[in-house]
Amino acid sequence: MEPYLDGAVREAFDTWQEEARARFMPPLTFAEVRRGVQALSSLYVERRHQGRLSSRALEGRGKRAAFATYYAPLHFLTAWHALTNFAGAEDVQRVLDLGCGTGAAGAAAGAACGAARVEGFDRSGWALGEARRSYASFHLAARCRRAALPDGLPFRFSSLGPSDLLVAGWLVNELEPEPQERLLAALLGARERGARLLLLEPLAGPISPWWETWQPRFEGAGVSARPLKRSLELPAWIALMDKAAGLSHRPLGARVLLG
Ligand SMILES: C[S@@+](CC[C@H](N)C(=O)[O-])C[C@H]1O[C@@H](n2cnc3c(N)ncnc32)[C@H](O)[C@@H]1O
Repeated sequence: MEPYLDGAVREAFDTWQEEARARFMPPLTFAEVRRGVQALSSLYVERRHQGRLSSRALEGRGKRAAFATYYAPLHFLTAWHALTNFAGAEDVQRVLDLGCGTGAAGAAAGAACGAARVEGFDRSGWALGEARRSYASFHLAARCRRAALPDGLPFRFSSLGPSDLLVAGWLVNELEPEPQERLLAALLGARERGARLLLLEPLAGPISPWWETWQPRFEGAGVSARPLKRSLELPAWIALMDKAAGLSHRPLGARVLLG
């Protein structure tokens, strides 16, 4: 079975995660974090149409712990493996991590591409604090700013170019249809100017019904759609939590737009 990571990045990943667990446990117990994982899983799959999805997802210590100690490492590994053999990696100098959350996908992209800096944007102050820690754990020069997407970003998509990698990890399914449309137009505009894109979403189709429209638009702009399905030897904590929560991440999977 393929190891989840190797060498220096595995060491950085393990330390990042040991520190994340130590920040939450204690005072939380394993069972409380497990309940947070199950609450988030149910929120994103069954209760997503009840409104305020992204703010409800970050309410309460159990769900925050689940983000930092379970979804963050899973998102890091998914983004890292999605970028295996990415031909544009060596051009990337800056990663723009949109809806950065805990910074997992942006940190993986920054580390995988050897980017000089990462900029994280999110509307949650708690998430930005987590993202700062994540980028630092992988020795990435970083800046994190509060911003509501897509209109509140402190840069113009039209100013981006081939040295920029836009990362949108598990973000677009949280946006309402109108902001989604504006983000689609902005990302396609940036792509026309040569910017790179890594967009990740869950494999489950009903969570991302807009994908059927987005995929051909991006393919027309030279971005490839490659679903990721990778059977990895999972970190021990993830394997333990998967079993306790009745979830499975073998194979690790995502819908991926990359180019
Ligand atoms: C599921 S999390 C994904 C986080 C991260 N990209 C990762 O790889 O783990 C989605 C994040 O998007 C943020 N978000 C959702 N809608 C947003 C908006 N309109 N503006 C800014 N951030 C937003 C949420 O606060 C949350 O942190």
